[in-house]
Amino acid sequence: MSHTPSSSAGAAADYATAQAFSSSWNNLPTGSVYTHQQFVEWFEPLDESVIKGASVLELGCGNGSLLQHALSWQPRLLVGVDLGDSVSAARASMREADKHEAAGVEELRANPRKHDRANWLVVQADLLDFSAAEHAELADVSFDLVYCIGVLHHLKSPSRGFEAVLRNTKPGGRFHCWVYAREGNGVIRGLVEPMRRVASMLPWWITKYAIATPVVVPYFVYAKVLRALPRWGLLRRLPLYLYSLWIGERGFRFFRHVAFDQLVTPETVYLEKSMVERWLASPEVDPDSAYVIFRNGNSWKFGGRKRSVEAVASRTPKTAQ
Ligand SMILES: C[S@@+](CC[C@H](N)C(=O)[O-])C[C@H]1O[C@@H](n2cnc3c(N)ncnc32)[C@H](O)[C@@H]1O
Repeated sequence: MSHTPSSSAGAAADYATAQAFSSSWNNLPTGSVYTHQQFVEWFEPLDESVIKGASVLELGCGNGSLLQHALSWQPRLLVGVDLGDSVSAARASMREADKHEAAGVEELRANPRKHDRANWLVVQADLLDFSAAEHAELADVSFDLVYCIGVLHHLKSPSRGFEAVLRNTKPGGRFHCWVYAREGNGVIRGLVEPMRRVASMLPWWITKYAIATPVVVPYFVYAKVLRALPRWGLLRRLPLYLYSLWIGERGFRFFRHVAFDQLVTPETVYLEKSMVERWLASPEVDPDSAYVIFRNGNSWKFGGRKRSVEAVASRTPKTAQ
């Protein structure tokens, strides 16, 4: 399934950011940039059981790198939304992922249910005003899970982005997000941010090949060395230590992809934990379900359940008649 862009897409506040990311996503080979293990870790504390048989929405899906892994967990319906032209790369990758699954004929014979086709759709739209009800194919859909990974910190209004996450989650459903933290990112904010302000104004290929590629070499060496060393307690004090252990598992291309992603975007904010906690304090969020996890020492993974309609109503003060 596919969907044409909304005519107002170009007028959206985040359009320049989305098109900058398209230059990243549309110049990569088809397929996911993440390993399945990375996908699994990004979703923890959620797991396969939350996606299997569920209707799932990704807001800001890029080239579908996460969607492809989510598809392997057999959702009933999987929808990706992105404002940029990377939706064409996302659709190509999803078609490829579908074919790949179909190729496992032996496994199919052994376990036919595992290969029931998931129903997927990639929509080009602004996540801030995305609503399933406005798309003919999705008119009756409400989402059991909405996730938004690596997106809110690139929006002009991250709070409106979080509101869109909650709005699209059905009452009683779950949401899951990941953002850059202000905490633990002093080196990135001090060194990379000034470069980003300049690099994001240049043609994408200059940013990728003349800036991101040489700039990431010393960091690549640093991360590889840290990974090779024993896990001495003192080393934990080094900048980006935990993050370096995480990314140090991957090859140079992934490092460059991440560096290019950081430098190509005209908009990045680093979010404090207190901001995430304010979002989670929304009357629409069930406080017993909410979690905030400091990931790799420099980002926040957070989520929870949206309250049922009755629970929200019982908390809303009645206005005088
Ligand atoms: C860093 S990428 C993350 C992509 C994907 N979630 C992943 O983790 O691979 C951020 C994505 O958000 C998209 N984006 C930015 N602003 C948006 C908006 N207002 N509506 C929809 N997508 C948006 C960009 O086009 C880009 O593809």
